[in-house]
Amino acid sequence: FEVTWDIDSAEKEGFEHFTLKEIFEQPKGVRETLMRRLNSQNEIVLEGVTLTADILKDINKVYIVACGTAYHAGLVGRRAIEMFAKIPVECDVASEFRYRDPFVDEKTLFIAVSQSGETLDTLQSLREAKRKGARILSIVNVVGSSVARESDDLLYTWAGPEIGVASTKAYTTQLIAFYLLALYMGKLNGRLEEHKYFEMIEALKLMPEKITEVLDQSKEIQKLAAAQFNNEKVFFMGRGVDCDIAYEGSLKLKEISYINSFAIAAGELKHGTIALIEDNTFVVAMATQDKLYEKMLSNIKEVKARGAYVFAIAKEGNDQLTKTADEVFFIPTTLDALTPILSVIPTQLLAYYVSALRGNDVDKPRNLAKSVTVE
Ligand code: AGP
Repeated sequence: FEVTWDIDSAEKEGFEHFTLKEIFEQPKGVRETLMRRLNSQNEIVLEGVTLTADILKDINKVYIVACGTAYHAGLVGRRAIEMFAKIPVECDVASEFRYRDPFVDEKTLFIAVSQSGETLDTLQSLREAKRKGARILSIVNVVGSSVARESDDLLYTWAGPEIGVASTKAYTTQLIAFYLLALYMGKLNGRLEEHKYFEMIEALKLMPEKITEVLDQSKEIQKLAAAQFNNEKVFFMGRGVDCDIAYEGSLKLKEISYINSFAIAAGELKHGTIALIEDNTFVVAMATQDKLYEKMLSNIKEVKARGAYVFAIAKEGNDQLTKTADEVFFIPTTLDALTPILSVIPTQLLAYYVSALRGNDVDKPRNLAKSVTVE
């Protein structure tokens, strides 16, 4: 059962590549995934999810398992579920989960994340967790795919067909699905205060227009790409949820520009990686988290002192960053838990423009397939 979108008949609607079109479709995808699950009282209605308070009270652990970009969405989802539902969460890549005899039992909620719903490592992990008695909930984009069919609970990301091999709109809609699920679980088990719930819902509802505000600044990223597209030393750093975005931004750049980029937790710099920083190393510093902001400022100074060119991504209002970093891209303000939906956009655009400037086949990068249905 292989779902393949007919790439030739699908329309680029004036965009040069599907990848760029899908980056710009994110306000719509996020709105679709979010708004059809909020009723007029702002209660979350998750069709396809039959997880009740009674079932949830017996769950003492969540396991999120996926590959690639879907795994990176799981990293953000882990923080949201721990923050709002107060249940311990492990997050693992499927190819590792399968072979480590994980602690999974009937008290585990296993969450599979997959755009295609056909990734073999993810599917086999789901089957392993099911064999061990776990309840299976999946966050999937392709309706009726194998992962979807083998799950107890199902949360579709209504991103629409994602044609580009590099996952973009599927990623942001996976984040939305996780936020909704985390809030839903927190309400079910009574561990989420009412005012926090409504604060999150109101902030989530503003996301489509805030994504549009970010996309309206795409020319800034185009200029940065024009200056840096030949730089072979590019790395991403961040702290907390910004670290999760650093991993995703680095993967995006790697897979479509073929630059050997990598990402690290900024606090790890002095434990080895800073030895790599030299004149003109291009560093993307994610600095959106209020409580980690000062720490990120000092990490930026550390790499600047060794010659790095620092492009920082921060929330509007953090103007002093312009005195420390070489360039700053400001995203609209929002709750710190939700900044990933906005801060990932400039990293997607950077990967796209660098890839296009390097003359690569952006939609079908070398060696890669849209869905990895082999081991
Ligand atoms: C992401 O841009 C890549 N195309 C790849 O890492 C992808 O996320 C991974 O193969 C998982 O695919 P899935 O979401 O369809 O399971």
